[in-house]
Amino acid sequence: MPYENILVEKVEGGVGLIRLNRPKAMNALDSVLMSELVQALNEFEADREIGCIVITGSEKVFAAGADIKEMENATTVEMLTRDSISLWDKVAKINKPVIAAVSGVALGGGCELAMACDMIVASTSAKFGQPEINLGVIPGAGGTQRLTRAVGKALAMEMVLNNRWLEAQEAYQFGLVNRVVAPETYLDEALKLARDIAARAPVAVRLARESVNAAFELPLSEGIRLERRNFYFLFSTEDQKEGMNAFVNKRPAKWQGK
Ligand code: CAA
Repeated sequence: MPYENILVEKVEGGVGLIRLNRPKAMNALDSVLMSELVQALNEFEADREIGCIVITGSEKVFAAGADIKEMENATTVEMLTRDSISLWDKVAKINKPVIAAVSGVALGGGCELAMACDMIVASTSAKFGQPEINLGVIPGAGGTQRLTRAVGKALAMEMVLNNRWLEAQEAYQFGLVNRVVAPETYLDEALKLARDIAARAPVAVRLARESVNAAFELPLSEGIRLERRNFYFLFSTEDQKEGMNAFVNKRPAKWQGK
């Protein structure tokens, strides 16, 4: 069934591409769009041909946040029982790498969606902000946490308390994004990065991602323990034998995902 608010395609090289597509509402992330996004992510997660996922918007806008019109008259109990913000969690919890390709504004829940991804490729026109304070609320989809971990307390406070936006180049300097490229090439750049990752040993990619993400959740000793278990675990895969044998015999490795 075609989606209403996103466009989904499988791109050559094992990449799943999801485009946020509500242009009239600046790609505001309403419950329909977010449910469709989660469904598309689930399908790509189950698809063995897909090794990496890219989420993008348009060149003009990544996403202007959660849909304010949908929330305007909601009560606390309605917000709590709908718990639509939990849809953002899927992006971080999925078992395949996800790259955000951001051009134009990524605000509020849009910035939080990008930050829930593993990497961000930005166009020079990208802008990142958490303007919820202007609405009498605060970021609700991880903004106070992921932003602070990425850019540090001083800047996060300014962004969250006083609606300070980051230009693409600043976002790069502060470590929020991986690279900044021209608006004409940001999506190609993100797709290339995704194809490169999709071509790698899938089980190692999965455990590498899990281990890096654990650095945000666990004390150092626990994180080191998890990393070491994952490292040793990979010696039960055929890809480890193949990778090391290929190195020793000076030939390219052929990954099986086993
Ligand atoms: N929700 C619903 N509709 C939105 C929207 C949003 N977050 N952002 C933009 N729109 C709609 C506008 O209402 C407008 O619709 P109409 O044509 O029907 O009036 C349309 O998109 C175009 O928007 P603008 O006319 O405002 O366009 P602009 O170019 O002048 O400004 C903008 C663009 C700077 C992104 C501005 O629209 C804006 O500030 N949007 C809101 C950003 C925001 O506050 N985001 C946080 C949302 S709350 C949140 O995300 C909570 C959370 O943590 C999960």
